[in-house]
Amino acid sequence: MTSPAAHEFLAPHDHAFGVDVGGSGIKGALVDPRSGEFIGERRKIATPKPATPEAVATTVARIVDEAGWHGPVGITLPSVIRDQIALTAANVDDSWIGTNCHDLLARHLGARSLAILNDADAAGLAEVAYGEPAARSGSVIFLTFGTGIGSAFFTDGVLFPNTELGHMLIDGTEAEHLASSAAKDRDGLGFAAWAGRVDAVLSEFERLFNPAAFIVGGGISREADKWVPHLTVRTPVLPARLRNRAGIVGAAMAAAQHVAP
Ligand code: BGC
Repeated sequence: MTSPAAHEFLAPHDHAFGVDVGGSGIKGALVDPRSGEFIGERRKIATPKPATPEAVATTVARIVDEAGWHGPVGITLPSVIRDQIALTAANVDDSWIGTNCHDLLARHLGARSLAILNDADAAGLAEVAYGEPAARSGSVIFLTFGTGIGSAFFTDGVLFPNTELGHMLIDGTEAEHLASSAAKDRDGLGFAAWAGRVDAVLSEFERLFNPAAFIVGGGISREADKWVPHLTVRTPVLPARLRNRAGIVGAAMAAAQHVAP
């Protein structure tokens, strides 16, 4: 069964601004939820160091203000977000843990309506709506390979939020420590050697969750032809179609649809 794409429910005026907070950059753009395309330019500011809640919220507000946007804003974080509270913090300052993200960002963004969610969940939502059609049917695990490994679980396009497969232990090592794209750079691995590690990680996910497909995103999915053919898992592995745009688009979708995990 294939569920309708999320944007099929939206009116044309439901534009929203998406901001993707990452370990190295904070990126934002206005998104047309009918097409999943950016309207105007994408803005990027380096993530403040340390990436404290106040410093990040100030930067998010700067990006939105500079774009002159006063409507809904969606914001992703590399954190588990439940009831608007950050329960974890990866690649941002530990002081995020326990922060009420909605209250914090509302102080900086004023009356705009806000949605805050995990970065991989946001990217997965965007992929379901505008990307690989297989993401919309059956049980699908969407993964992002970047500084860490993010995960998003879908059943017929419906998100089960806040899964954290990047932290699953594979032979005693966290999956993302072994097989993120940052780990590839850190350990100076070529695509074939790195794909061997990704294969070990996917094999474990396959053994435990038996999805119908894995969809692999993050910047390195641009070069999927160099590593996906090396994988031996029996589950189909499909490159995401939205690439780096996904986080911003998913954030904007969540704001337009008032999603609050
Ligand atoms: C975090 C996740 C995040 C992923 C990608 C992981 O380290 O725990 O919440 O989705 O990195 O940024």
